[in-house]
Formats: sequence, structure tokens, C-alpha cells
Amino acid sequence: MTLNGKLAVVTGASSGIGKAVAERLRDEGMRVIGVDINAQQLSAITGIEHLVVDLAHDEGRAEVVKAGRGAHALINGAALIRLKKIREFTTQDIRDIYAVNVEAPWYLMSHLSEVMSDGGSIVNLSSVSARLTVTPETAVYASSKTALLAMTRSWAHVLAPRDINVNAILPGITDTPMQELVLHRLSELREIPYSELESTRLDSIPMKRAAQPAEIAALVRFLITDEAKYITGQALSQDGGSVMF
Ligand SMILES: NC(=O)c1ccc[n+]([C@@H]2O[C@H](COP(=O)([O-])OP(=O)(O)OC[C@H]3O[C@@H](n4cnc5c(N)ncnc54)[C@H](O)[C@@H]3O)[C@@H](O)[C@H]2O)c1
Repeated sequence: MTLNGKLAVVTGASSGIGKAVAERLRDEGMRVIGVDINAQQLSAITGIEHLVVDLAHDEGRAEVVKAGRGAHALINGAALIRLKKIREFTTQDIRDIYAVNVEAPWYLMSHLSEVMSDGGSIVNLSSVSARLTVTPETAVYASSKTALLAMTRSWAHVLAPRDINVNAILPGITDTPMQELVLHRLSELREIPYSELESTRLDSIPMKRAAQPAEIAALVRFLITDEAKYITGQALSQDGGSVMF
């Protein structure tokens, strides 16, 4: 079975990994609905449909479900990160981050799965930070990414009878705008020059390099093919060996 002509819904499609996924699946011949809050960046991606919504609220999430009827694949890539000294996180910070990183994928797994095709696939973008803490300044984001792993397992159970596999990818440091933001905020919070952080950030990675978004997109593509159908409920690290099982 080929991906050609099938529908994929990709959230966070205007930037970084989500953008690379949308472009890769488009290049495979899929019909892609790219979902993002950033209208300007999203509109710059050619050959896909653009759905501008705020995934922090049910109204926006419901629009995605409506547009995604019959989808073969759902890729939950949108995420919000905020860095602070750990005691400075407020309840509102937690709600804002969880609205995008936890509630939205939950809503879409619950409601979009009802209208997607049997035999389809769901891929959730978690993070190495779900399992490894090197920056307590991202503690709330990291906890949301751990929550996403538990959700992945539950939905994998529930959707298995319909032959829908549900997996999570845990990217390590990947060169995207989010990574830039992390370095800038860490530099401010720790009062360490940006250049110093940038030159040491890869030291603990056995492969001594960051991932490129296209590498993550290639794993997403594999996970939504028939070849990967017997893989479900898994958390697949793609991090240059940062976390070995
Ligand atoms: N870059 C990394 O090093 C890295 C590492 C591990 C995991 N990840 C995960 O990979 C995924 C993609 O990350 P990225 O680095 O490409 O990030 P990014 O910041 O470049 O892209 C995230 C996208 O999500 C969108 N988004 C945020 N809030 C939204 C909302 N309320 N409604 C709709 N869209 C919204 C943004 O507009 C943006 O386009 C995320 O889930 C992230 O947690 C990234």
C-alpha cells in the first residue's frame, strides 16, 4: 500500500520538524493539511492545504477534526515551550503549555481518530526531555512530553482493533527555531554567553551533532507506512544516542 493520494494532518506544520514532515509527506504524493497558528509562515509552504487555527482551544481543534475526515495519518507536532527558573512557573504557564502539548493531541487522538480511516497511523512528537533532564528551565514542557508518552500508549491500545498504530518519536536536539529559542532563553537565565552554550550543547550527545528536521520526518514517514504497521505504543528515540534504552 502506497501513501500516494492519502490524507495526512500535520500540526505545527509552519516551522521546524512539522514543516519538514509536511513537505516530506507532500513529496510522497500525500494530500497534506498543514495546521498551525502562524498564518504567514504556513502560507509559505507550497503544495499543501493550510489550516490556521489556535490548538490551545477546542474551537480550533474541532476545525481540524472537521477538515481531517478520512485521514490516513495524524501527526501531532505543534508544541509550546517556555523557559523559566523552575520556581517561577505559574499555574497559567502550566495551563498554556499543557493546552497545546497535551490537550490538543489528546483531543485530536480522541476525535480525529473517530473519523480517520481504519488502518491509519498516529505519530506524536514527544522529546528526549520526556526521559532526560538537563535543563530544569524547561520542566513544564518536559512534563508535558512525558504525559504524551502515556497518552500514546493508551490510544495505541484503544485503536489497535482498527489497525491504527500510535507511536511517539523522541527527538533529541534538532536544528529548528524552537532550539534557537531554548539557547537564547538559557543564555539569559543562566547568564552564560550564547556562543558558549552553542559550542557545548552537543558535548553529551554520542554522535556529537544535532538532528536535522528531515531526519525526523523520515521516521514519521516510515511509521505511517504498512511496513511499520506492527509497531504500536512505542516511544522511539532519535537523538544521536543521548538516551540509550
Ligand atoms: N527542536 C528540537 O530540538 C525538538 C526536540 C525534541 C522534540 N521536539 C518536538 O518536535 C515538535 C516540533 O518542534 P520544532 O522544534 O519544530 O518547534 P517549532 O517551534 O519550530 O514549531 C512548533 C510549531 O507549533 C506551532 N504552534 C505552537 N502553538 C500553537 C497553537 N496554539 N496552535 C497551533 N500551532 C501552534 C508553532 O507556530 C510552530 O509552527 C514539537 O512537538 C517539539 O516539542 C523538538
